[in-house]
Amino acid sequence: MSEYETITVRPLATHIGAEIEGLDLSRPMDNRQTEEFHRAFAKHHVLFFRDQTMTPDQHKAVGRMFGELAGVPFIKSLEGHPEIVEIVKEAEEVKTYNFGGDWHTDMTFLKEPAVASVLYGREIPETGGDTKFASTEAAYAALSDGMKRLLAGLTAMHSGAKSYGVSGKFAKSKVESMKINPDEAGDAEVEHPVVRVNPMTGRPALYINPNYTIRLKDMTVEESAPLLTYLYSHMTRDEFTCRFKWTADAVAIWDNRVTMHRAINDYDGTRRVAHRVTAVGDRPEVFPS
Ligand code: SIN
Repeated sequence: MSEYETITVRPLATHIGAEIEGLDLSRPMDNRQTEEFHRAFAKHHVLFFRDQTMTPDQHKAVGRMFGELAGVPFIKSLEGHPEIVEIVKEAEEVKTYNFGGDWHTDMTFLKEPAVASVLYGREIPETGGDTKFASTEAAYAALSDGMKRLLAGLTAMHSGAKSYGVSGKFAKSKVESMKINPDEAGDAEVEHPVVRVNPMTGRPALYINPNYTIRLKDMTVEESAPLLTYLYSHMTRDEFTCRFKWTADAVAIWDNRVTMHRAINDYDGTRRVAHRVTAVGDRPEVFPS
């Protein structure tokens, strides 16, 4: 018998990702649907939905299931909707950086970073433009006991410097289609535990990412690099990931507390547009407490 009565859940891979059928995201969920949605979310970390029709307000309502929404600092939001970021790469923008193209977890440069993001595919290339997701919970579980002991109690410094700082990639190479304004505030550092608790399950997860984690606390960038580089290559091993092939009007909802993601930049010559809302207010709790 299925664990779910109101939805169909088709896992994409062992540790992360499931396609969901039977939910219309434009309508409020009833109690049973809400319980099954959150249970599937806690188990699979990222849920995918096809053929959804949502107005901007309905899109925001889905995001608000996870908390208060915030636009991405440094990026101009969609006209009239400060909570919605339009992620665009135009057909003419070839050989350029694409937004979200490096492995990252959303907005870990904030003191109270992202809880969940809801990405709505609006214009999708026929070929390419997939998004990869990685479970940082599965990656932590697969580490040796020795490595887990080494990481216990470590803290990492995060900032937007590599993207939104004065020398970040958006300062050097302009992404014309999105209004991104790097400035000094992008270089400000905040700290988070390297291993955190998934508040939905109590399980530990790694909470570092190559785009926003700058270094370990009380260490230089160079001193931190060997350990962080090893962990990133471990976290992005195929067995901890899934890959989503977008179609127009598909929706991805991911848990930023236990995942990283990366938008694959392999569709030069084609336009890709997606709208994202992000619920913030996460308070990463150190593991073990
Ligand atoms: C993002 O990092 O939020 C963008 C992901 C995507 O465009 O697939």
